[in-house]
Amino acid sequence: MKRVFSGVQPTGNIHLGNYLGALKQFVELQDDHECIYCIVDMHAITVPQDPKVLKEHILDVAALYLAVGIDPKKSIVFVQSDVSGHAELSWILTCNSYTGELSRMTQFKDKSKNKESAPTGLFTYPVLMAADILLYDTDVVPVGNDQKQHIEICRDLAGRVNGKFPGTFVIPDGRFLKEGARIMALDDPTKKMSKSAENIHSRISLLDDPTKIKKSIMKATTDSDGVVRFDVENKPGISNLLNIYSALSGMSISDLENKYEGKGYGDFKKDLVEVVIEALTPIRNRYEEIRNSQELLDILKEGAVKADMIAQKTMKRVKENFGLGL
Ligand code: TYM
Repeated sequence: MKRVFSGVQPTGNIHLGNYLGALKQFVELQDDHECIYCIVDMHAITVPQDPKVLKEHILDVAALYLAVGIDPKKSIVFVQSDVSGHAELSWILTCNSYTGELSRMTQFKDKSKNKESAPTGLFTYPVLMAADILLYDTDVVPVGNDQKQHIEICRDLAGRVNGKFPGTFVIPDGRFLKEGARIMALDDPTKKMSKSAENIHSRISLLDDPTKIKKSIMKATTDSDGVVRFDVENKPGISNLLNIYSALSGMSISDLENKYEGKGYGDFKKDLVEVVIEALTPIRNRYEEIRNSQELLDILKEGAVKADMIAQKTMKRVKENFGLGL
């Protein structure tokens, strides 16, 4: 069975973009892959975090993993900082990375723009992400397509090390969905939907209640032409809503275009509200059941033990190949 690894940062406001770009794929892959899903808390501290809030957010993501359908009997679910191999391998990879390639990463360029200095962790963020993936001999990494550059640098680093020490790493492939691979902000469809945007109506969080969902969708930016047609370039707002509708309902974009021919955006949005509420209500209910349970803590503890066993095996091989330790 091929091995899958992916992670989500515990930074609050997990939204429809995270769900359609990543979490939904996580669930689908469980049946015929060996899956490892991580809550990447060490990535979260590349920007300042309140320790109490961070702890809550770790449990929030863990509960959401289970609420969307990740089954701990099939998949390993754990917290990154509970397995020390991530930090160890990250250092070894850092020594094999170049400042030039890291300074070309768009995420770093965006986050350090107009600042005199930026945290080093932000700069080496992609190396830690590569360590996450390579530590588990991962074959497939399901992610939204905003992570394409990170997957590429991971493959480059693995290939570079294998060039020096053959057989050290498995070279992973990214798995990106065509539709829903990038869900855009509802208030500005030229930007991706994000956890940190100030306007809460720019996103639909997985835990939003029906009133909030309705408000955000009814307010979503469209255009003045009033025709429900998929055209990302000229009609990015309605195209984004079509993407969401299609991914959640299973209907194709062209079937949706036919369904709403001659109807306005109002009818389309009203139906989309129903589709989103129907998809998110069971997730919210399951989340409430599990969020404060002992079961959740037990699952994470057991997940960390299983992940650590795989990680230690890789670290032994990597250290041997590099001539580290005795
Ligand atoms: P994070 O926490 O920002 O996002 C989690 C996942 O959600 C996807 N995503 C989106 N997909 C579609 N549309 C959007 N608007 C959208 N916003 C986010 C992301 O692509 C991601 O798959 N660097 C990663 C976390 C990470 C990781 C890893 C992932 C750390 N180590 C190893 C895979 C493997 C991140 O910041 O994800």
